[in-house]
Order: sequence, then structure tokens, then C-alpha cells
Amino acid sequence: MESIIEVKNLKKTYKKRKTREYIHAVSDVSFHVHRGEILGLLGPNGAGKTTTIKMLCGLLIPDSGSIQVNGIDMRKKRLHGLRHISAVLEGNRNLYWRLTVRENLEYFAGNRGFSRKDVAVRIDELLVQFNLKEKENELVNRLSRGMQQKLAIAVAMLAESEVILLDEPTLGLDVETGYEVREILKNIVRDENRTIIISSHDMDVVQDLCGRTVIINEGKIITDDKVENLLKLFEVRSYTITLGGLLTEEQQQLMHQKFPHVVYTPDTVQSTLEIDLAKSEDIYDLFNVLKLNHIPVESFDRSTVNFEQIFMKILKGGETHGSLAQSS
Ligand SMILES: Nc1ncnc2c1ncn2[C@@H]1O[C@H](COP(=O)(O)OP(=O)(O)O)[C@@H](O)[C@H]1O
Ligand SMILES: [Mg+2]
Repeated sequence: MESIIEVKNLKKTYKKRKTREYIHAVSDVSFHVHRGEILGLLGPNGAGKTTTIKMLCGLLIPDSGSIQVNGIDMRKKRLHGLRHISAVLEGNRNLYWRLTVRENLEYFAGNRGFSRKDVAVRIDELLVQFNLKEKENELVNRLSRGMQQKLAIAVAMLAESEVILLDEPTLGLDVETGYEVREILKNIVRDENRTIIISSHDMDVVQDLCGRTVIINEGKIITDDKVENLLKLFEVRSYTITLGGLLTEEQQQLMHQKFPHVVYTPDTVQSTLEIDLAKSEDIYDLFNVLKLNHIPVESFDRSTVNFEQIFMKILKGGETHGSLAQSS
């Protein structure tokens, strides 16, 4: 299969102004992306995801290494290569806050040389696709963070570039909006023949959207594999339910009887219940019992992935079918 992106031995070091300390944000990153593929760039905070994406979209010049986009060497013909790429960076919603939703789309379409008439239909489609139709005349600075993020992605889609880079597209969104953005992205993935790179620290997001993922840690690629082959590694999680109070002696007994594998931990005013991912089908029963007994649930989280544990497993080998990145 043909690669639309080829990244080889990318390196980027930052120098802190004050301390003159060097930070090797990206020390050796190589990967390729096939045309039409959705690639995950998965790794913990500080792994080098944003730095990698900034190099791909021309915001940072690598210290060394090469990037080819559609066969174009970005060192030689950067602007030429950038025509194939649109990016939505983490936290940076590249929008005009004093323009409305629709005006933003019109403005960016104009920037790309589309005529207003030609683009009107496409803008309407995007407004519907991104659930923003009702907000089309709202000023961007009055939108929620989630809606701004949706608009930022819609603007990126409007450019009709072959490659879309999405840096942590669901970071900082509330749970509901995070899921909504994921659903929209899933539809885009299904309906449009784009090549997309999605960075995330959340395996769930990658699992939901990507076919293959590279895992990055401390500026290096640790593994590159199909998501289905990596899932086994991520089965180390559990759910945590935080209760808005303590369980009575009686309620604790009931819990033990009904859910022997659920761990109850009382704290001062709150308490938590932990349940294994493998037993996740019990969660609905558990919620029912909590409800019937009027036990208030404050929050319900999937415990975060322990990347350290996963990296150890990968380094020990044999856990994935993919290639281990060779460190040079
Ligand atoms: N402008 C910068 N100046 C100095 N250090 C930076 C800068 N941007 C990022 N870093 C550092 O580089 C490393 C990689 O950062 P980043 O690429 O943002 O990782 P990620 O997106 O995976 O969280 C981190 O240690 C981060 O603190
Ligand atoms: Mg980042």
C-alpha cells in the first residue's frame, strides 16, 4: 500500500531560555501512514506527540530527520507539502472569536480560494455533520469549549486536504462532548477518504477511531501495531465508582454477597468501589443495587491506563505482533 506520509528519524530538542537546559522532546520518531488510514499516536503526557504533530504541519522545523508528504520532501518544498495537510492543535482553536460559526467557515473557505457560492452547500453539510447548525449565527467566543473544538475540526475538514492531523481532539472536553466528537470523527472516517493522524493519551479514543497506532514515549516510538493487537496490553484497567458517602455495615455485606470481586474502600466522607474491566458486565447490576439502596454515586471513571506497566510489557516483548522501533 502506498504511504502518503513517511517520517524518518525525526528529532527536536528544545532549549529552555532560563535554565539553558535541553529537552529532547522528540529524539527518534519514524513511522509511515498509508493513504486513507487512520493512525493513532498514543502516549502519555510529555511523550512528544504535540511536537511531532507541529513538525508534520510545518509549525516547527525538525533538528534532523525527514518528512515526506505525498512524495514531497518537506525540507525542500515545505509550502508545497503543506497544501496536503490541515491540523487542529491541542488547545489551540484556530478560530476568529468575534466572528460567528458560519462566518468562520466562510472566512477560512475564502482563504483557501473557494468562492462563497461554491462553498455554501459544503458549509451547510459541515454544520449538520458537526451538530452546529443551530449555532451557525452564534459568536465563537460564546460557544462552549466542545463546540469550539467541533468548529475547529470542521474548519480543518473544509480545507479538503488529504491529510488531517488532530492533536488530542477530545482533551479537556466533558464526557458527553468527548463522545460526540468521537462519533463525528467516526462518521468522517467512514464516509470520507481522508488520511488522519489522531494523537491521544487515551487508548479508548485510539481504539474507537484508529486501525493502527504508534505508541510514543520519551520522544521515541515504542511500538507500531494494529490496535487489535495492542488491546491485550491495555486490559489492565478497572472502573472506579466514587460514592457520595460511606456504606453502612448492612450495605457492605450486601455488596460482598452480590459482587464478591468488587473492592470497597471507605475514606473520610466518600468511598470508592473498584471493579475489574473483565467483569464490566456487572456494572449495570451494580448501579441498580446502588440506586435501589439510595446510595449516591458521585462519579464513575475508567481508571487511567498505566503506561509504565504497558511499556514494560512491550519491552519484555512477545506481546504484540508489530515491529519494535529500533533505538539508534
Ligand atoms: N516550547 C517548548 N519549550 C520547552 N520544552 C517544551 C516545549 N514544548 C514542549 N516541551 C517539552 O517537550 C516534551 C514533549 O512535549 P509535547 O510534544 O508537548 O508532548 P505531548 O504532546 O506528548 O504531551 C515535554 O517534556 C515538554 O515539556
Ligand atoms: Mg500534547
